[in-house]
Amino acid sequence: MSNRAPVPKPGILDIQAYVPGEGSVASGLRPIKLSSNETPLGPSPNAISAYQSVAASLDRYPDGTASELRRAIGRVYGFDPERIVCGCGSDELLNLLAHAYLGQGDEAIFTQHGFLVYRIVTLGNGANPVVAPERNLTADVDAILARVSARTKIVFLANPNNPTGSYLPFDEVRRLRRGLPDTVLLVIDAAYAEYVRRNDYEAGIELVATTDNTVMTRTFSKIHGLAALRLGWAYCPAAIADVLNRIRGPFNVTAPAIAAGVAAIEDKAHTERGVAHNEQWLPWMSAEVEKLGLEVSPSAGNFILIHFPGDDGKGAIAADEFLKSKGIIMRRVAGYGLPNALRMTIGTAEENRLTAAALAEFVRSHRA
Ligand SMILES: Cc1ncc(COP(=O)(O)O)c(C=O)c1O
Repeated sequence: MSNRAPVPKPGILDIQAYVPGEGSVASGLRPIKLSSNETPLGPSPNAISAYQSVAASLDRYPDGTASELRRAIGRVYGFDPERIVCGCGSDELLNLLAHAYLGQGDEAIFTQHGFLVYRIVTLGNGANPVVAPERNLTADVDAILARVSARTKIVFLANPNNPTGSYLPFDEVRRLRRGLPDTVLLVIDAAYAEYVRRNDYEAGIELVATTDNTVMTRTFSKIHGLAALRLGWAYCPAAIADVLNRIRGPFNVTAPAIAAGVAAIEDKAHTERGVAHNEQWLPWMSAEVEKLGLEVSPSAGNFILIHFPGDDGKGAIAADEFLKSKGIIMRRVAGYGLPNALRMTIGTAEENRLTAAALAEFVRSHRA
C-alpha cells in the first residue's frame, strides 16, 4: 500500500461534520424528541396519501424539473415557477449556492450563532468564513456590513435564526441589502418563516422580487412535517435559478418528495394548525421555564433556547443528562458557541407538559 493518499480540496478538512439532533435514549424509555425542530403535528394526511400513491411507480425517474411542485409553490405564493429551484432539503440549496458563487480565497459572512451549515458549505468550497458578532443573540446589520471586503461573495442570514430564535425585522434586512455591494449575494434562509407572527417580519420575498442578488430558501422539513423526505426550495432571480439548474443533480428531488410536497403546500389548513399550536404552546413553554428562574430567549420560530446558570457549560450538560434519563431529548448548542444553553423544539401538549415537569424537577434537585 502506498503512503500517498488522495488529498481533498483546501478547506474540506477544516470542516467539523454537522452533528444532527439526537433521536434515541436508553432502551425502555419512550423518546420525546425535541432536538430537530420537527413539527409535533406530523405532515398533512394528504401528503402521506400522495407519498404512498407513488409506491406503484418507483421504477420511474422523477420529473427532473419538479415542475408540478414548483407550480404548486408558485400558486400558493404568487411566484413565477421558473424562479423556483427545488432541492434535497434547503441544505442542498445552500450548498449549491455556495458551490456556484464561492471559490478559493472568497469570503462568506454569517453571524456568530448562525446556522452551522453556512460554515460547512463555505469551507467546502474553499472559501473563508467571516463571522459577524451578534447583539443580544440577534444578527447585527452594522457588524455584517463592517466585515464586507472586496472578497465577500455571499452573506448568509437565517431569519429567524436557529438556534437563537431571534429575527431581523424587514426594515433591517432591507438596510442590509442596501448596504451590500450589488455583487454580493444575500441568502435569506427562512426555514421557520411560516411560524413567524410579527408585523415587522417579511420572509424575503419582496427583496427577491425586486433585486438581482437576493435568494430566499425555504424548507418542507419544519411546519410541513416532511423532514424525512428531504425537500426544500429557493426563490431566486431568474439568472440565479438558471445557475442552480445547471449544477444541481438532474434528479435531485425524488418522486415521493414531489408528490408529498405538492399536497403539503396546498393543505393550508394543516399549516395553520401548525401555527396555531405553536402560538399556544411556545408562550406557555417559555413562561413555564421562566417560572423556574431560567432565562429563555424570545423566539419567533418553533423552538426555544433555554439558558442555564453558570458559565462553564456544566448546567446545560447536567440538565441534558437529567432530561435524557426521562426520555426527553433537547439539543446541545455548544457547537453554536452557546455552551450554557439547550434548544427545545415545541412538542405536543403532552410532551410540553412532561418537559416542563422534568425541568422543574431538575431545577429543584439542583437547588437542594
Ligand atoms: C435555519 C435552518 N436552515 C436550514 C435548515 C435545513 O433544513 P432542510 O431540512 O430543508 O435541509 C435548518 C434545519 O434545521 C435550519 O434550522
